[in-house]
Amino acid sequence: MGKAVDARLIVDGTEVPVSFVEARLGNDGLSMETLLKKTGLVNVDPGFMNTASCTSAITFIDGDEGILMYRGYPIEELAARSTFLETAHLLIYGELPTRDLLNSLENRVARHIQVHDGIKAFLNAFPRDAHPMSVLSGAVSALGAFYPESIGHEENEIELATVLLLAKTATVIAYLQRRAMGLDLIEPKKGGTDYVEEFLRLTFADSDGHCDLDPAVRQAMDLLLVLHADHEQNCSTSTVRMVGSSQASIYASIAAGVGALSGPLHGGANEATLRMFDDIIASGDTIERFVEKVKSKSDGARLMGFGHRVYKNFDPRCTVVKQATDQVLTALGLSSEVFDMAKRLEEIALHDEYFIERKLYPNVDFYSGLIYKAMGFPTPMFTPLFALGRIPGWIAHWREMVGDPTTKIGRPRQVYIGEAERSYVPIEERR
Ligand code: ACO
Repeated sequence: MGKAVDARLIVDGTEVPVSFVEARLGNDGLSMETLLKKTGLVNVDPGFMNTASCTSAITFIDGDEGILMYRGYPIEELAARSTFLETAHLLIYGELPTRDLLNSLENRVARHIQVHDGIKAFLNAFPRDAHPMSVLSGAVSALGAFYPESIGHEENEIELATVLLLAKTATVIAYLQRRAMGLDLIEPKKGGTDYVEEFLRLTFADSDGHCDLDPAVRQAMDLLLVLHADHEQNCSTSTVRMVGSSQASIYASIAAGVGALSGPLHGGANEATLRMFDDIIASGDTIERFVEKVKSKSDGARLMGFGHRVYKNFDPRCTVVKQATDQVLTALGLSSEVFDMAKRLEEIALHDEYFIERKLYPNVDFYSGLIYKAMGFPTPMFTPLFALGRIPGWIAHWREMVGDPTTKIGRPRQVYIGEAERSYVPIEERR
């Protein structure tokens, strides 16, 4: 937050009004909404390096200081003390719930945990080895078709969609893993069950529904969901808002967000990071040689799980995940060559001029794949687990966007650099 600035933009003698948009915390903004009208010029900002697409009251990040807060609560406090559905309530409704409100949300979600037989048939129609993010995007979109009473913009429809998305996405993701492992789909217990425990039971139980889970796994799952629950205007959330700005349904918007999350530069980085660790081991390369390869940019190699558009300091989520990985490995009595290698790789990169100069620090995905693996999840499930955690954030942003009277359909401009006008050439005359 800063003082209003004296900003003027004069283009060829024409003054363009510049208005000041004050932030509660972080970067204030300047708005030049009449730039095009007054001058015929558009603002160019590929990758939105410098552009705020909205005002938002949900999540705050200070990338220089490594701070992340949901609705004003530091992520470290929520990670230590909150649970996933409590955090979901905070993000979606703006406040931590009272005991009654939390019970009500938990009960509503538990009541809707089963999915329509048609959704099961839909999931069964995909090849078993299909990437689960492709199936998940389709399944979220399909939820809108199976529950049409929740696709509109009336308050009751939005409320129903909120609960259905939290509940049914968990079941769908558990089913994705069961199918990939060749296991029968088991029925969720309807009502009165612990969300995280039921998700893990649906995922890991034998065909009789029995599942003996170490409490450390349940605790880590809850923590990971809290840590992934929101991250302001990242690629997938901006996608959700963009699609929703056309007044498309919340399902269509979140299905698009799942697609955006799947990319290796975004949520898919957890999977890509683990593959990178495995490749280094399989290649027999030393970590030092791998780091040299990254620095020389040969074969486009990047240190996956490192770097962030906003954080130019430690990603606070990474610190928590690293600690939790250690705890889970210890609780399960596992040793991990990969975890030791990751820690050494982090150490080397943090002391290397290339990474220091560019302010490249480990992000949430550097260790998340390792903890998921220790918990028993196969690698392709890592990004769907991220998506499950991000559902409340996407819902909160979609709801904030549709409730904001200043929302307009998202429609960026371009600077055209193609051919100027030319005449159609008949096919016989073309060379
Ligand atoms: N390894 C090596 N070099 C890197 C890395 C990396 N992981 N990330 C950035 N750089 C370098 C770039 O090559 C560039 O170098 P240059 O100045 O010599 O050209 C410089 O740092 C700036 O990088 P950009 O790509 O311009 O930064 P941008 O903000 O566009 O990208 C991103 C951010 C996509 C996260 C990038 O750091 C990256 O690809 N990281 C690896 C993938 C990853 O971990 N993604 C997960 C992000 S967290 C999340 O989405 C949940």
